[in-house]
Amino acid sequence: MSIADIRKDYILAELDEQTAGDDPVTFFSQWFKEAERAEITEINAMTLATSGRNGVPHARIVLLKGLDDRGFVFFTNYDSDKGKEIAENDKVALLFFWKELERQVRIEGRIEKVPAEESDIYFRSRPAGSRLGAWASPQSREIPHRNILDLNYAHYENEFSGIETPRPPHWGGYIVVPDRMEFWQGRASRMHDRILFTRTGAGWAKSRLAP
Ligand SMILES: Cc1cc2nc3c(=O)[nH]c(=O)nc-3n(C[C@H](O)[C@H](O)[C@H](O)COP(=O)(O)O)c2cc1C
Repeated sequence: MSIADIRKDYILAELDEQTAGDDPVTFFSQWFKEAERAEITEINAMTLATSGRNGVPHARIVLLKGLDDRGFVFFTNYDSDKGKEIAENDKVALLFFWKELERQVRIEGRIEKVPAEESDIYFRSRPAGSRLGAWASPQSREIPHRNILDLNYAHYENEFSGIETPRPPHWGGYIVVPDRMEFWQGRASRMHDRILFTRTGAGWAKSRLAP
């Protein structure tokens, strides 16, 4: 089959202004619960797009690990390529695609590190192997071969044997504080629903976009 022939009509639901409400973070939580009820796997996997000073965009998946009134939290290596780009440019985008519900959510905003205590709490909740992995992997750096990772892992396993593995200083959380959120519900004949929220000082303005 040719790739050009792959297509799907979207028929599951509709989205109107009233259903979307007045607060996009609250509405996101509602859609997230619906995705949980639909038993979608890896519903917290989101694409994170960043760009540094040179404006070249880079996108990759990270896992949403927290959501509250402030915004969307994930954890990573602060010295990674994404960490370096974030240090140069605090404007980022997030993207969720829950294909089983024919839904997409686009989020844009400003990113900042979460307080160290918050990173400590989450780091302690990770499985022991993942905690050692955070020390063992110089994320985004070129390595000569796979074996380096295993050697690093064994080194830190030995270094922290008998004590709780501490959080590496270069590892922690970021929070994306949204200023624009768009909810997309697939509809038949490509006549999709798009409801956009734009931050206006203390509140949000709501509009509808053509698909
Ligand atoms: C399903 C999935 C979940 C991932 N979750 C994370 C995550 O939460 N944090 C992270 O740093 N990388 C995560 N990754 C790896 C990133 O996509 C990426 O490879 C890594 O962060 C390095 O990106 P960078 O070189 O642009 O900094 C995940 C990848 C996949 C496919």
